[in-house]
Amino acid sequence: MIEELQKIQTEAQQELSSVKDASALEQWRIKFLSRQGLLPKTLEGMKDVPKEQRPEVGKISNQVKSTLQSAFDDKKEDLEAGSDEDQSFDPTMPGAPVRQGSLHVLTQVQDRMIQIFRRMGFALAEGPEIETEYNNFDALNTPEDHPARNEQDTFYVKLPDHPVEGRHLLRTHTSTVQIRTMKTQKPPIQIIAPGRCYRRDEIDATHGVYFHQMEGLLVDEGVSLSDLKGVLEYFFHEFLGPDTLVRFRPHFFPFTEPSFEVDFSKPGLKIRGKEWTEIAGCGLVDPAVFSAVDIDPQAYSGFAFGMGIERMAMIIHEIPDLRLFSENDIRFLKQFA
Ligand code: PHE
Repeated sequence: MIEELQKIQTEAQQELSSVKDASALEQWRIKFLSRQGLLPKTLEGMKDVPKEQRPEVGKISNQVKSTLQSAFDDKKEDLEAGSDEDQSFDPTMPGAPVRQGSLHVLTQVQDRMIQIFRRMGFALAEGPEIETEYNNFDALNTPEDHPARNEQDTFYVKLPDHPVEGRHLLRTHTSTVQIRTMKTQKPPIQIIAPGRCYRRDEIDATHGVYFHQMEGLLVDEGVSLSDLKGVLEYFFHEFLGPDTLVRFRPHFFPFTEPSFEVDFSKPGLKIRGKEWTEIAGCGLVDPAVFSAVDIDPQAYSGFAFGMGIERMAMIIHEIPDLRLFSENDIRFLKQFA
């Protein structure tokens, strides 16, 4: 009888493991545990067990009974928990929202600027942020004692054993890309070069230790100031609207001659209380720069310009503080998503 009980237990456990729903579980209960089930039926044989074996057989039958009963209870609980879950799944509910990222506002503004220049035939060029002092200053006709070379104004970096001789620095402007391009390409050249620049400034609402510029360079036969003016006027009309006024003020840069600062004004728009806002530097490429890159200044002429990308973004989005661009505050960034 002990053998029989153990056989029932094994069989019952096996079958229970393949029970998948409430009705199969009920079938199982009827088969093994109900009044007419296998277990009670077998226990009826108890009366034929010799007296001295009854305590032993009784103990085992109780064990089998409670094992199967608790296996049944567990299974029941499992199935109920499972069905609860099923009920809580509502296929008509909208999904959890996925937060979408976006391009940084400076990237968006830069892309818009690039699009406008591309329409005029400018190609995209680039250069590294760590530069030689030669590309940043010497080749751009900047005198030895120019204040910009001062360690108070420029970040110099030590690059031990670098194959290129001379001091290295974090470029202070994107005009370095003029040099890199003219060293490797022959005219006609027509490029823009957006990128990050570094200066040792006190940080405040309008100054940071890094910022972005968009450089432009066009070199060909017979390029004149009117070409430069036309290109910049077209750009500002496209970027800020056709009623934008652009003016050129004489200025000085070592690498252009003559040189100008460019201001714009737009009816109804005052920036920091002023009607005219300085936005770019420009001029005709200085013959000394052509000589440094082996282009014949008798045969070719060209113009160059450089403008601040942060400043463009601040104007069109009315952003009051430069520091917002780099603080990575999601409340700021998502306004431009
Ligand atoms: N590199 C100048 C600056 O950073 C801007 C400039 C570029 C001026 C090209 C003239 C020509 O201020």
